[in-house]
Amino acid sequence: MTTTIRIYDDRTELAQAAAEYVLECYREAIAAHGDFAIALSGGSTPRVLFQLLIAPAYARQIDWSQVQVFWGDERSVPPDHADSNYRMAKEALLDHVSLPSANIHRMLTEQTPEQAAHAYEQTLRDFFSRPGGQARFDLVLLGMGDDGHTASLFPNTAALDETERLVVANHVPQLDTWRVTLTAPVINRAAHVAFLVSGAGKANRLKAVLEGPQQPRELPSQLVRPTDGELVWLVDQDAAAQLVERA
Ligand code: 6PG
Repeated sequence: MTTTIRIYDDRTELAQAAAEYVLECYREAIAAHGDFAIALSGGSTPRVLFQLLIAPAYARQIDWSQVQVFWGDERSVPPDHADSNYRMAKEALLDHVSLPSANIHRMLTEQTPEQAAHAYEQTLRDFFSRPGGQARFDLVLLGMGDDGHTASLFPNTAALDETERLVVANHVPQLDTWRVTLTAPVINRAAHVAFLVSGAGKANRLKAVLEGPQQPRELPSQLVRPTDGELVWLVDQDAAAQLVERA
C-alpha cells in the first residue's frame, strides 16, 4: 500500500485535484480492462467534484458508457429523499452525463437495510465476476466525518468487525439510524482509494487518523489500508492545519 497526502489551498482546488485523479484512474482502468468501476462517497464534499466532472473540460474526456457507478454507503431513506447520497449524485452528476441507466448501481434503500445490503452484495459479486473484468473497484471515493468515520463505518459499530461480507446494514446509535455500507475488506481490495477531506472541522480528527496511534474502532478511517492499491488523501489547508507531516 502506498499512502499519499496532498494538501490544497481550498475546497475548489481540492475538487479540481480530485477530478484530475478520477480521470487518471479512469484512463488506467480503461487501458487495463476496458471499464471503470467507481464507488461514490456521500455527504457534501463530493458535490463540487461531481459538478466539475460534468464540465466540458472533463465530460469530453470520459466515455460514460464505460463507467459503472456504485456507492460506498447510503442512508436508510428513499432515493428521492433530501438525505439520499444517490439523489445528491443524481442531481450533481448522473443527470448531466450520458451514463446508461444499467451502469448505475444504486443501493435499494427503499427495502429494509438488511435486504438492501444483501441485494447490493449480490450486485457487487455479480459485477466482480464479469468476464474479463477486475474483481474490485478501480476507485473508491471516501469522505471522513469529524468523528473519524468513513462511508458508514462509524466508531464502535458492528460493521467495523466485518471481515467477509462486502456490504452490511450497520446500526449507528450515534445517529439513531441504520445505514447500508461497503465494508473495509471490499474497500481495501480497490485499486485506488481517495479520501476527500475539507474544512477546519475535520482538522483534529484528520491529525488523529493520519498521525495518531492506530485505534480503528474509534477512528474507522484508519481501517482503510488498501491491500495492494493506492491510498491518497486529498485535503484542503483547513483540514490539514494540525498535520505535522505536511506533504
Ligand atoms: C455519508 C458519507 C460519509 C461522508 C462523511 C463526510 O453518507 O454521510 O458517506 O461517510 O463521506 O460523513 O461528509 P462531508 O463530506 O459532508 O463532510
